[in-house]
Amino acid sequence: MQDKIRELQRRIADEKDPLKGRLWVSDDGEGAVYLAKSAGFCFGVHRAVDMVYGKVREKDFPIYTYGPIIHNDTVVGDLRKSGVGVIDSEEDLSGISNGTVVIRSHGVPKRICDQIEERGLTLLDATCPFVKRIHEIVKKKSAEGYQIVICGNAHHPEVEGIMGWCSSPAIVITTEEEAEAIAKKDYGKPLCIVSQTTFNYKKFDKLVEIVKCLRYDEPAILNTICNATEERQTEARAIASLADAMIVIGGRNSSNTQKLVDISRKECENTFFVQTFDDLNLRLVPSRGIVGISAGASTPNNIIEEVSKQCRKTILLNRC
Ligand code: F3S
Repeated sequence: MQDKIRELQRRIADEKDPLKGRLWVSDDGEGAVYLAKSAGFCFGVHRAVDMVYGKVREKDFPIYTYGPIIHNDTVVGDLRKSGVGVIDSEEDLSGISNGTVVIRSHGVPKRICDQIEERGLTLLDATCPFVKRIHEIVKKKSAEGYQIVICGNAHHPEVEGIMGWCSSPAIVITTEEEAEAIAKKDYGKPLCIVSQTTFNYKKFDKLVEIVKCLRYDEPAILNTICNATEERQTEARAIASLADAMIVIGGRNSSNTQKLVDISRKECENTFFVQTFDDLNLRLVPSRGIVGISAGASTPNNIIEEVSKQCRKTILLNRC
């Protein structure tokens, strides 16, 4: 058996190691496929998808989701076939007069929830509870007179949603320069700093450190990063550092999948990003060594299992 595969087996057995996934090893011990434990739907995505399918089973049509329920074309396409429509904008919403609107796990600004209710539509809130907690924090803190600062991507739907629960305009920062600029500026009120759930831990600590240098005990700091993201990234980094090829599965528009690709590529240059098994070029799967598989939070389990199965088959076929 290859030393590297032995090393991987030893690490999986170590409770403190982030590598907790499923390992398959070929009979001769020369090839292995590691499937990350954290690959696929997180708690919030699972909950949101289950809520929509539950409504479909009740046949309580018309049913809409506000924006695609998750960043995965396969799931969105399947829901479309089941009769679930997607509302793409506030303008679209204004044209709808009956039915249920499901709010996706990323959440939406408060004004969207208000509009749904004002129009007499049924609101089914599938906002992830961890995101909902941020809405409650910013709502309370902005009402108490704090200037809300969000560490995250201003164009991401989750951040747009969070901004929409503040009673005064929030500031979004991502870079150290932006952190320095807000630390120096006098807003006439204390700062309250929160983070997008998928923000990078190390980066958040760095931005907070910069702000605190100048405004020592003034800011209220709430690290609202979700553990699921950190666990997924840590496991992907760990397996990519051992793997001979790394496959990351996820939707084209999924920012958390893209982050996994970036992290994996830094550790393993043979990193391949695929949306489904059809995108995978099996000729690139090495027949010896370790193939690591991770997937974004919006990737359905059946797609992950299919990729994993085909990788195992390829390794076996290449050995015959
Ligand atoms: Fe919720 Fe965390 Fe997933 S915030 S949607 S459980 S990544």
